[in-house]
Amino acid sequence: MSTTTSTATPETRKPPTENPVFSVENLWKVFGPKAHTVPADPDLAALDPAGLRERTGCTAAVRDVSFDVRKGEVFVVMGLSGSGKSTLVRCLTRLIEPTAGTIAIDGEDVRAMDKTRLRELRRHRAAMVFQHFGLLPHRTVLDNVAYGLEIQGVGKAERRERAAEVVAKVGLEGMEHRRPGQLSGGQRQRVGLARALAVDPEVLLFDEPFSALDPLIRRDMQEEVVRLHHEEGRTMVFITHDLSEALKLGDRIALMRDGAVVQLGTPEEIVGSPADDYVREFVRDVPREQVLTVRTAMRTASADEAGSGPALAPEATVSEAIEAVARSGAPARVMENGRCLGVVDHERLIGVVAGTERPVAAGTEQAKEVV
Ligand SMILES: Nc1ncnc2c1ncn2[C@@H]1O[C@H](COP(=O)(O)OP(=O)(O)OP(=O)(O)O)[C@@H](O)[C@H]1O
Ligand SMILES: [Mg+2]
Repeated sequence: MSTTTSTATPETRKPPTENPVFSVENLWKVFGPKAHTVPADPDLAALDPAGLRERTGCTAAVRDVSFDVRKGEVFVVMGLSGSGKSTLVRCLTRLIEPTAGTIAIDGEDVRAMDKTRLRELRRHRAAMVFQHFGLLPHRTVLDNVAYGLEIQGVGKAERRERAAEVVAKVGLEGMEHRRPGQLSGGQRQRVGLARALAVDPEVLLFDEPFSALDPLIRRDMQEEVVRLHHEEGRTMVFITHDLSEALKLGDRIALMRDGAVVQLGTPEEIVGSPADDYVREFVRDVPREQVLTVRTAMRTASADEAGSGPALAPEATVSEAIEAVARSGAPARVMENGRCLGVVDHERLIGVVAGTERPVAAGTEQAKEVV
């Protein structure tokens, strides 16, 4: 399936996902002269950004990236400015043409799509929400929201009805007849979100949609995304350079550096088990006790411990566990379906927060063997 498997290293191979929405393998986007030669030549492909620029005049904005976006998840792409986030997400619908690699949506090869199919992909299946809203200034809120339906050829009455529903869903009821200039930044972004939702896409792609908003409105919008995700089970790809936003929204996070994905994992995996010094430095100031859960913090329970003590769900945070243990004075049991998976005591919890106790990744041998 892949056209560039020769450049795949074990680290870039991904575990299989059942029916992924997007499946990306060994994707490259190189800007510059003779860009296509870079992924094909192992010597060039191995160069660091400065070396590549010097030898070829090229920039590898996306460098041998592989991942799946699972149905119903919020997949966050995070990284500093210039790390390749926008380029990567634009490649998914070929707003930017990839240089090498494969992209599939629901198993269909995106790189093989003709113009008509591609237009359909962008209009119906993968809707993009941009940072600068991209609203039409002379149209009302309602007509801006209905715009995507209009270009789909949906009739006026139906599109207005559907637009009104979505406008209400994002909390803009009563503002249907205003123009974008009469709205706050947060409200404008809600219009942008409503417009993407109106076409009922299979996946929503967000390119730093909230970075221009002030912190309180930004929080509102983040909660809106969380709510949409929970209530509608929308699949989303969400770009941000903000770590706390990534941790709050992401089911999984791909952390990018210089075009490559340096770690892909749950917020807990990224904070609890950084893949390298770069990631460790990135997450250094994160309050670990609020991200790590007892599922990864627990240790094996003795027979005595398994029978008594306060009970916590595996998803309870370390911070909640510290409170429960302090209140009861005894180790807390991590319970799932009436089974004790393990226990957390004060020393263990403090050790996990301090990083002196290495958390156990969910599903590892130690986590499984505990009864
Ligand atoms: N059209 C282009 N021509 C040449 N280089 C480009 C082009 N577009 C992007 N790049 C380079 O590719 C790299 C990745 O850019 P990209 O816009 O994807 O980064 P980003 O992570 O989205 O950054 P930001 O957080 O600032 O939006 C950067 O080094 C950028 O300069
Ligand atoms: Mg960008």
